[in-house]
Amino acid sequence: MTQLPAASLTPLEAQIELERLGREIAAHDRAYYQDDAPTLSDAAYDALRGRLKELEAAFPELVRADSPSRTVGAAPGEGFRAVAHLQPMMSLEDVFTDEAVAEFLQRVRRFLGLGESDPLDLVAEPKIDGLSINLLYENGAFVRATTRGDGAEGEDVTANMRTLADLPRRLNGPAPALMEVRGEVYMRRDDFLALNAASEARGEKIFANPRNAAAGSLRQLDAAVTARRRLSLFCYALGEVSEAVADSHRALLQRLKDWGFPVNPRIGLCRDLDEALAFTRALGAERADLAYDIDGVVYKVDRLDWQTRLGRRDRTPRWAVAHKFPAEQAQTLLERIEIQVGRTGALTPVAILRPITVGGVVVSRATLHNEDEILRKDVRAGDTVIIQRAGDVIPQVVAVVADKRPADSRPFTPSDRCPVCNSHAVKPEGEAIRRCSGGLTCRAQAVERLIHFASRNAFDIEGLGEKNVTFLFESGRIHGPADIFRLEAAEKGTLLPLKTQPGWGAKSVEKLFAAIAARRRVPLDRFIYALGIRQVGEATARLLALHYHSLRAWRAAMSAAAAERDAEADAGEAWTHLIAIDQVGPAVAGEIADFFAEAHNLAVLDDLAAEVTVEDFAAPAATGSPVAGKTVVFTGSLETMSRDEAKAQAQALGAKVAGSVSAKTDYVVAGADAGSKLTKARDLGLTVLSEQAWRALIDR
Ligand code: IVH
Repeated sequence: MTQLPAASLTPLEAQIELERLGREIAAHDRAYYQDDAPTLSDAAYDALRGRLKELEAAFPELVRADSPSRTVGAAPGEGFRAVAHLQPMMSLEDVFTDEAVAEFLQRVRRFLGLGESDPLDLVAEPKIDGLSINLLYENGAFVRATTRGDGAEGEDVTANMRTLADLPRRLNGPAPALMEVRGEVYMRRDDFLALNAASEARGEKIFANPRNAAAGSLRQLDAAVTARRRLSLFCYALGEVSEAVADSHRALLQRLKDWGFPVNPRIGLCRDLDEALAFTRALGAERADLAYDIDGVVYKVDRLDWQTRLGRRDRTPRWAVAHKFPAEQAQTLLERIEIQVGRTGALTPVAILRPITVGGVVVSRATLHNEDEILRKDVRAGDTVIIQRAGDVIPQVVAVVADKRPADSRPFTPSDRCPVCNSHAVKPEGEAIRRCSGGLTCRAQAVERLIHFASRNAFDIEGLGEKNVTFLFESGRIHGPADIFRLEAAEKGTLLPLKTQPGWGAKSVEKLFAAIAARRRVPLDRFIYALGIRQVGEATARLLALHYHSLRAWRAAMSAAAAERDAEADAGEAWTHLIAIDQVGPAVAGEIADFFAEAHNLAVLDDLAAEVTVEDFAAPAATGSPVAGKTVVFTGSLETMSRDEAKAQAQALGAKVAGSVSAKTDYVVAGADAGSKLTKARDLGLTVLSEQAWRALIDR
């Protein structure tokens, strides 16, 4: 296209061209930054921006508020700024049955040491299906908004949040000097439908459900785009606050309302299990008529001093639980059964479905778990099946509609070959899962492991999602995790640098290298989690890091434990210590030993350790605590608190809580009727403390 010099354009011509340029640049920015899929070369992109600048210089009065040249908050190239929350943002434990709600109440009672008839008020609230937001206020003025992110830090979406009509900028009446308000950003159903209708008319991407639409709209780099999407807000909790503002959750919600925050009106006070369940049944019946999506009810212990005592586990509070509504079901055609290979080599059959909407989401695949399950339900290609979504869980095939089966259908026959690498796929006697024996030579396993390795809660390398990992692996650039850290060096002198490859550009390569460089230091727990050992999730990885402290110590101890187990010399010291860790136990220890028993796994680990610096584990908030780093065992019944509460308190002070006594135990805290653990502690000559002595030690 020939371009006239800016000075020879009429204002109207300039205005039209500026609008077009604005739209084009925004679309390329979205493709580049959000979808990681650049739609044009860097040079062509720069030319667009250059022309925009030229026109804006010639016609300053025509610079649009939403011009890419003055994008607010996040200048292109920076994405969103990461900001640490003052208090971590937690998630909620989900329960699906009435029995599980009863158990929650029992657990709370036990933890607090309440009797059956002591009052325990709960507040029940709709669980809004949106995304959580953290709003910081200083002296009653809105300062900053951040997404949840990984719970410790989120993305700064202040500019976007300011576009919400629901957000109070100044609070009514006096407010604490500092206050984090927590809530949910969501999109009303009517706004969602209108947005999708408009997008469809323009031939743009449509969203699967209001939640995705809300998330996509809030995480726009251009606040002007967010402003055009209609987002709403409900607030329901506080994070950090400089002074107490209420002594019950109910009173807190009232204060939030008085300050001007939108608080959901459909809140209930429940005095017992029956009232809680009745609230949920009633709300479930209203669900379809609400103006927004909800996916359950949150029950919260009303007394805030009790919330404090209950505290939290890994990522969820003990004082609240989400009671999810039953799964929504639908019928559709199962077109074929595909076998997927996971990062541990497990073969998982997946149903490929004729797309259908279930619970507001378009579903086209569903898990079939394993081949025994397929045979048990006799699921076949061509069947009409009932599928369901339970919460955020992957959709499942519940059953076959027998009378819709085609006459010529044939039963499913499992293959003993990996569909990806053709290695033998073995299903041990008595086990449900068939596994590919190809190990890391199997592309599926290697790629899945690398994706896990780079994922958010592991090494958290931005730009290394499924698409890019697959490309880097298949083009021979990376084979194992350590190669990621050698990628940039390997680029030097190559004839086909990454930036010349389809789908990559100089900018995206640079961004990736920067993201990789930023992760050369990694905390021990993330390192352990990233290895992808079966059954070693984040919480277990953290426990291991807490107990072994450094990579060296952990590696040595795990190798020793594996050797002891394989020598069947039961009660070897390393093995005994490992299974004594509270919540580890023989099954998890067995998986760890399996990993360490394989020479190729050790090679991968050592190769990686040579590329990165693994930080020793620093126990959270435990500096100066007299029990930091000490191993404690609680036994017998305690008087002033429950055992769970005691354990949680000890962990919060940086102690390691073990389930059984060994020579490595520092303190055994013995309550009434302590049994064999106490005897063993005495035999080993360990320090045994009474409950009072323990409390004196930790100064409580
Ligand atoms: S309370 C410390 N209340 O559900 C507990 N959460 O699945 C903080 N959510 O991350 C959450 N409605 O984003 C709470 N009435 C409500 C909620 C709610 C929706 C979301 C929230 C949370 C997620 C956990």
